[in-house]
Amino acid sequence: MSTDIIGAAKPRIDGTAKLSGSAPYAADHYPANLAYAYGVFSTIAAGEITSIDVSRAKKMPGVIEIFHHDNFPNLHRTPSSFVQQNKVDETRLPFEDNHVYYGGQFVALVVADTFENARDAAYHVDVAYRAKKPVTSLAQALAQGEPKPADNKKHERGDPDTAYSGAAHKIEATYTTPIETHNPMEMHATTAHWHDGHLTFYEASQGVVFAKHTMAAIFGINPARIDARAPYIGSGFGSKLWIWPHAVACAAAARELDRPVQLVVPRQQMFTTTGHRAATQQKIRLATDDDGKLVSISHDSINTTSFVNRYVESCGSCTKSLYGCDNVRITESTVQVNHGTPTSMRAPGAAQGLFALESAIDEMAEQIGMDPLEFRRRNYTDRDGSKDLPFSSVHLLEAYDKAADKFRWSKRNPKIGSMMRGPEILGWGMAACNWEAMKRDCDARVSLRADGTAFASCATQDIGTGTYTIVAQTVASLTGLPLERIEVELGNSSYPKGPLSGGSWATATALPAIHNATAKAIDALKQHAVEEDGVLAGRDAGQLEFVNGKLHGNGRSFSFADVLKARKIGEAFGEAHTNAASGDEYSFRSFGAHFVEIGWDPGISRLRVHRVVSAIDVGQIVNAKTAANQVEGAIDMGIGMALFEQTEYDHRTGMPINNNYAEYLVPTHLDQPESVDVILLDHPDTKFNELGVRGIGEIGITGMAAAVANAVYHATGKRVRDLPIRIEDLI
Ligand code: MOS
Repeated sequence: MSTDIIGAAKPRIDGTAKLSGSAPYAADHYPANLAYAYGVFSTIAAGEITSIDVSRAKKMPGVIEIFHHDNFPNLHRTPSSFVQQNKVDETRLPFEDNHVYYGGQFVALVVADTFENARDAAYHVDVAYRAKKPVTSLAQALAQGEPKPADNKKHERGDPDTAYSGAAHKIEATYTTPIETHNPMEMHATTAHWHDGHLTFYEASQGVVFAKHTMAAIFGINPARIDARAPYIGSGFGSKLWIWPHAVACAAAARELDRPVQLVVPRQQMFTTTGHRAATQQKIRLATDDDGKLVSISHDSINTTSFVNRYVESCGSCTKSLYGCDNVRITESTVQVNHGTPTSMRAPGAAQGLFALESAIDEMAEQIGMDPLEFRRRNYTDRDGSKDLPFSSVHLLEAYDKAADKFRWSKRNPKIGSMMRGPEILGWGMAACNWEAMKRDCDARVSLRADGTAFASCATQDIGTGTYTIVAQTVASLTGLPLERIEVELGNSSYPKGPLSGGSWATATALPAIHNATAKAIDALKQHAVEEDGVLAGRDAGQLEFVNGKLHGNGRSFSFADVLKARKIGEAFGEAHTNAASGDEYSFRSFGAHFVEIGWDPGISRLRVHRVVSAIDVGQIVNAKTAANQVEGAIDMGIGMALFEQTEYDHRTGMPINNNYAEYLVPTHLDQPESVDVILLDHPDTKFNELGVRGIGEIGITGMAAAVANAVYHATGKRVRDLPIRIEDLI
C-alpha cells in the first residue's frame, strides 16, 4: 500500500454534503403521495389495553387510517438470528395484542396527509388501560426474585475462591451503572415505499443488510424484493443496529394503504422503543499476593432486561483477559423490568464492566500502597488467559508509557487531596481500555471507469465515523487516484454484502474486501490492455505497472479511458469476498489507557474534567483525523457516563422523566476538558488481516468513567461506585 495516503489525516469526503444539508437522511426522502405516520404511545408501563376509541381522531383533518391491535395486519415474528441476518432485540411485533410491557410502547399508529395532522390526531386517540404495578428498577426487580444466570456467558478458570481466601490482600466491592439512552442527533425514522410487491425503505440504520433480511422475515417475502437504504446516518451508538417496531409499523401501514409512508420516532419515544443501555449491578472481588500480583478475580454482573426479550450485557468481557491471573470467574445474569428491551450502546458490556473493574483495580492498588499505573504494569499480560492464546498484537505497555509521559503522571502526589490549582483540588486518575477486535464476511466491488474515476460500493454504512473516506483512501492507496476522483457508495442493501457499522468491526471487515476488489480491478484493466484489441496487445499483463492512476508499459502510459476505449467498454472491475476467519492461534483485542485530571472546587461544589490524555492501540491507523475524532467523541461520551448520563423513571408509573435533550444530561461545550490528547499507536496487526486494521469506534469509551472516578477519589477521598458521579456524592 502507498504509505502517504493510508494513515493520512484526510477530511471526510462526505463532509461538504453533510454540512451543506444536501446529504439525505432517512426522513429526507419524499416519494410522491407520501403520507405521514405518528404513534400513539402507552401511558402505562405494565398491563393491558381495555379499549381504543378512534372516533374523535378519525374526524380530525387529513386522517387516512388509524392502526392498532384490532386492525393491524398479521405479520411474522422473526426468530432473531445473527447468522440469518434477521436480528432484532425486541421480537414482539407492534400491535400484536393488547398487552403493555413498557411505557411508551406503540399502542396505535395514525396515518395522515401531513406530519402535523397525524400528530394532532394521535393526541385524540382515546386509549383505556388496566394497569398493573410496574417493576421500574434493578433494585426493585432484585427484591422480588433471583436474577436469572446467562449460562453461556460464564467463564471460570483455576480456583478463584480458594485463591481469594488465602491471599495477602483482598477487596470486594459492588458498582452500579444506570440506564442510559442513546441520543444520536438524527432521530430514528423510516420512509417506506411499496411498488409491485417490492419494498424500498430508507431507514436510520447501522446495518442495511440486516434491515433487509429482517423485514423480509417479518413480511414473509423474498429478500430480493426488499431494498434497505441508509446513505447517511446521523449516528446511532448501537441503537440503530437492528429494526425496531416503528420500522415494521411504517412499512406495514404503507403496504395496507398502498402509498408511501414516513414515520419519525419522536425524541421521547427514543427513550422507550428504540433500546437503551441496561442498568447494571456488578460485584468485583480481587486478591493479590504480597508482591501485588493478582491471584483471584471474580466479576458477577446483573443487568436489567425487558419482559419481552432477554438482553445480556457482557460486563465481564474484558475482565476475562485484561490482566494476567490464573483464577478468574465471570458470571452474568439478568432481571426483568417494565422498560423497553435494552440494546447495544457503544462498547456494550465493556463500558459498564470496565467502570467496575478499573475502579476496583484502583481500590486494590490503593490498599496495597502501590501507584495504580505500576500496579497495572505489574499485572500486564501478553496472553489471553480466557482462551489460553497470545494476543495477536498488544502494545498496552507502550500505551501506558506514552500517555503517562504526556500527562506527566510521574509528578502525581499520591496523597489524597494534596494537589491544588488555585481554589481547586486536583485529582489524577487513570484506567486501561479494552475491546475485542472482530470482523465479518464481506463482499465489495470496485471499478475503474472510462472517465478516469473509480467507483467503490459495499453494503456497509458510514454512520458519521468516516467509512466513506477510509474506503476511498484504500482505493487510492492502490490506484494512486486523488480522493476526489474516487466515488464511494455505501448504505444500500443491493450493493455487495457488507458489515454492520457496529462492534468496531466495519473497518477491519470492509477495507480488506475493498482492497482486494481494487487489486482485481487493476488486474482486469491490465488484462484489457493486453487483449487482441487492447492498447498493449500481446504484452504480458504481469509486466505492466499501474502508478498514479495510469497504466505503464512498453515505455508508454495509458489512462483508463485509453485502455477501455480501445475495447469499447465502460469499466474494468473487481469483486472480492473476504471472510471472518482469522484462525485460532491468537486472541484479537485492542488496548489503551486513559489519564484524567479533574478539578474539584469545594467552595462552590464544582467538578470539572480538565485534561485527558489517551493512548490507543488499534492496529494500523487508516485516517489519523477520523480515528482521533472517534476517540475524542468516545472520551466525551465517557465523561457523560461518569458525570451526567442517566435515564430517570417515575417509580410510580414506570415512565421516563428526563426523556428530552434538555433534561437528559450529556456534556456540553462548557463541560469540555481544557485539553484532550489522543495518541494513536499505529502498529499494524497483520495477524488479524492483511491491512493490519482493527477498528476504533468503541474502545475510547471503555475505562473512561473509571479514570474519572479514580481521579475524583484522588482529589476528594470519596470512592463513588454508583454512576453517574454527582455533586451530592462529594459534599
Ligand atoms: Mo456499536 S454499540 O456495536 O453500534
